[in-house]
Amino acid sequence: MGKNIDVELKNIQKSFGSNVVVENFNLQIEQGECVSFLGPSGCGKTTTLNMIAGFLEPDQGDLFIKGKRMNGMPSNKRELGMVFQTYSLFPHMTIFENVAYGLKLRKTPKSEMQERVKKILEVVKLPNVADRYPKQLSGGQRQRIAIARALVTEPSLLLLDEPLSNLDAKLREELRDELKRLQQEIGVTTIFVTHDQEEALYLSNRIVVLANGKMEQVGTPWEIYNRPASEFVHTFIGKSNRMYGILEETHPSQLRLRTEEGFALSASPKGIELRTGDQVSMYVRPERIQLAQEESASTDMNSVKGQVKLISFLGAYTECEVTVGKHTITVRLLAEQEGGALKQGETVYLEWKPEDMFVFPRKVE
Ligand SMILES: Nc1ncnc2c1ncn2[C@@H]1O[C@H](COP(=O)(O)OP(=O)(O)OP(=O)(O)O)[C@@H](O)[C@H]1O
Ligand SMILES: [Mg+2]
Repeated sequence: MGKNIDVELKNIQKSFGSNVVVENFNLQIEQGECVSFLGPSGCGKTTTLNMIAGFLEPDQGDLFIKGKRMNGMPSNKRELGMVFQTYSLFPHMTIFENVAYGLKLRKTPKSEMQERVKKILEVVKLPNVADRYPKQLSGGQRQRIAIARALVTEPSLLLLDEPLSNLDAKLREELRDELKRLQQEIGVTTIFVTHDQEEALYLSNRIVVLANGKMEQVGTPWEIYNRPASEFVHTFIGKSNRMYGILEETHPSQLRLRTEEGFALSASPKGIELRTGDQVSMYVRPERIQLAQEESASTDMNSVKGQVKLISFLGAYTECEVTVGKHTITVRLLAEQEGGALKQGETVYLEWKPEDMFVFPRKVE
């Protein structure tokens, strides 16, 4: 038996003037799922969220929440909880009044209102601030209250538009953990908009990667990271080293490649359409490369020779830049490994598995 679909977008399209901002958006979100919209600035994340929220109407397509068609339905009839990037608390109201606002609009009896506000303030771990005003709280505390205010009405859908991006790094991480705990505890279906790939990986059951108003890929964090549908997705998520070259041979389980410097490499195919003779961009992530002083005897590994250019100790890992022909390859070594013994200028061998290579047709610029 399939799960319940809470949200469905069918062929949603939106333009501003002649500028198509959201194109052919199709998505189903299951009950309790947390789905992120991830993409660079201007790709249409907020526009899509605003159509779901009812602040904007799509030019084309249908939107369903809990099976009900929502086109034309006013925002306040959609049973949503929302949190935005900027603190949207009412400054002249106490925290209690702020959190109770949605309940008051729904004419919730006073005793029940008090009970629910008290409970949700405990959930966001701020039980003792009900009588304060927003300006008497820190930025992170205010965002927690904004989250409490969105959740107290028990919305059928929680919409979050970059709720963490105004916070400093440490708080951001703390509140990110908190959001994940809350989302799982309450089980509320959530759409989370972000341009921060790590936040998306951390929080989501599935990620929608957007570029220029188009859906590049929809998948689990694992799929997005390990089976990117395009070069854009691969390079947007995490750091990766690019080398240019040519696809020399195509076998069912192996691609044979040659870099511009003449290194022979192999890659396992990952469903990207390629043809023998194609100019390609090939990638390997910094954490997938091992460094060795001697050339490995194993023919299963890719191996290239380079020179250590720069070593940077970063606590949990050491980052090492290695010059390989005209390319600079970044390698990330766990700190307890060999990193400490490396020397600038030293000749090293970089090694990685064929399955850790990503190959895409090279774009002609
Ligand atoms: N009301 C509007 N009128 C005209 N153009 C708009 C309007 N709102 C958004 N746009 C344009 O639509 C595109 C998408 O905007 P949107 O706000 O959805 O981007 P975003 O992905 O949320 O970006 P960011 O990460 O910067 O918040 C942008 O090119 C923007 O300039
Ligand atoms: Mg936005």
